Amino acid sequence: MNELSIIPIENGPLKISNLSNKTLKNIIFYDSLPITLEKSTLICRCGKSKNQPFCDGTHLKDNFTSEKKLKEEIIQVYNSKDVTVTFNRSICAGSAQCVNEFPSIYSSENSHDWINLDTETTQEIIKSIEGCPSSALSYSIENKQIMQDYEKENINILKNGPITVIGAVDLKIEHWSSFANKTKFTLCRCGASENKPFCDYSHASLKDSSYTF
Ligand code: FES
Repeated sequence: MNELSIIPIENGPLKISNLSNKTLKNIIFYDSLPITLEKSTLICRCGKSKNQPFCDGTHLKDNFTSEKKLKEEIIQVYNSKDVTVTFNRSICAGSAQCVNEFPSIYSSENSHDWINLDTETTQEIIKSIEGCPSSALSYSIENKQIMQDYEKENINILKNGPITVIGAVDLKIEHWSSFANKTKFTLCRCGASENKPFCDYSHASLKDSSYTF
């Protein structure tokens, strides 16, 4: 059984629960500082708490809604001779790791053909996808989606950014985004994602300076 679960509370925070009978240390971080978890904690996802990263109840005054507004996912599919690469724009957290580390494969131009699989080996393509923190990039071989396994859980709450989660953390939702990896995903903290609870990079376009999370 997973030791950790995350419940997105409707119109409220994310509840992270420790299901083991021991105190968990060095698994959850906020801005690189560790958070010790006894039983559970409530993490703000409206972006307005004055006690970040924790919920302080501001979402109630602010009429925060956790409704998923996204109607249709934006999926792009690319084929090389050995792998099929899928990009789900709706869960891309905008880390730009792919563009920065593998510029020969991923173009920073915002076009439909921004992925070119002809320039690198299959090994490099897979490496580039495994580095994607949100699992917006995924790949399949012979029609079977390949998921990574992680030995240790990590919940990283990024300052003014999303929560990146890896490992056996049970996200309690009914409907997952297409091709999302259940052991690697990013969750919205700013409250503006159209695809809640997932981050869709909306935090990058927030102009309101009252958002510091
Ligand atoms: S979700 Fe409670 S204050 Fe943000």
